[in-house]
Amino acid sequence: MSSIPEFTCQKHLFDIPEGVTYLNAAYMSPIFKQAALLGQQSVAKKMHPWKIGIADFFTPPNRACQLMAEMIGANGGDVAVIPSVSYGIALAAKNLPLLKGQKILVLADQFPSNIYPWQEMAKAHQAEVVTIARPADGNWTGPLCDAIDQDTAIVACPHAHWTDGSLVDLVRVGTVARANGAALVLDLTQSLGMMPFSVRDVDPDFMIVATYKWLLGPYSYGFVYVAPRHHGGLPLEEGWIARKGSEDFARLVDYQPEYQPDAGRFNMGERSNFMLTPIAIHALEKLNEWGTEAISGYLSGLTDMIAERALAIGLKVADKAHRSPHLIGLDFAGGVPEALTAYLAERKIFVSVRGDSIRVAPHVYNDEKDVENLFSALEDFL
Ligand SMILES: Cc1ncc(COP(=O)(O)O)c(C=O)c1O
Repeated sequence: MSSIPEFTCQKHLFDIPEGVTYLNAAYMSPIFKQAALLGQQSVAKKMHPWKIGIADFFTPPNRACQLMAEMIGANGGDVAVIPSVSYGIALAAKNLPLLKGQKILVLADQFPSNIYPWQEMAKAHQAEVVTIARPADGNWTGPLCDAIDQDTAIVACPHAHWTDGSLVDLVRVGTVARANGAALVLDLTQSLGMMPFSVRDVDPDFMIVATYKWLLGPYSYGFVYVAPRHHGGLPLEEGWIARKGSEDFARLVDYQPEYQPDAGRFNMGERSNFMLTPIAIHALEKLNEWGTEAISGYLSGLTDMIAERALAIGLKVADKAHRSPHLIGLDFAGGVPEALTAYLAERKIFVSVRGDSIRVAPHVYNDEKDVENLFSALEDFL
């Protein structure tokens, strides 16, 4: 008997009306109905601030970090709360060495929040950002590993490419990076929770994730995992809550030279985020309860179905071995017909256009009916 739990569509936990086919988690996921309730309660609590106690500053964000740590095989202390991927990459850039003439490796068309900081850093150090060209077979691992050498200071990449879900084997990239003395910085916003990932296998220097897509969380809420070897590094901010003893509100002006332990110093100011934290916690609890393997198995069943239907109407898709379980590009070769997005939206079918492809991104609230709706619309249109 398989150890992976049987997984079924979880649409009942979300407020997606009949007639809406939402296949766009890579853009923005809905939050759970229950999380919305918890969020409303936490907004209402701010009308009665006397009900917000000191423990509220610490217990919920610590729980959120612990849940993130469980998801990635880390310790709760290795994880800090951040507002965005931009913030997390800036933090990584501040803490990694880069010498004149060295290289930072990135993928072609990588998400800009994981490009601009490296371009600025390279300019400041007379170093170079080297872009790996898009491989025809959708597998970035070979070309990326081939490009890592003794002059590589940093490899900054995702697990699944945000435009079409094409893959990077992070275990292999981590091994090659370490063998060459290069740091590894990951933006897993488009894969975490959907594709198995463990810091124990990959050993990144920094792993960054925003919660508002696949993690079914709020906007402006994310996490950074900082490898223990960087715990003595430099935070982006010097706020009160990141300092030792910040739990003792009566003694905050006994200024403290020391930080909170582990990755505590890397937390953003106002990490307590009373309104958003309960939403993030609820989602992480559900995702951890289901487990990445079960979710990934369920979604790869849907993407297989999508791939089969796409091929049948003459669209191109990546081979199963080279596509992620949850994110698939349907390639129109000559370009996506201009009127198609509007046509699909009229039928309340939501996907994204990226380049010559439409990007289809199913999550746990989708099932075969959604796939059927998408393809009957595409067949009518074409
Ligand atoms: C791969 C990836 N990283 C990051 C982001 C968001 O970046 P930020 O949190 O800096 O707004 C997105 C949004 O589409 C994304 O696709």
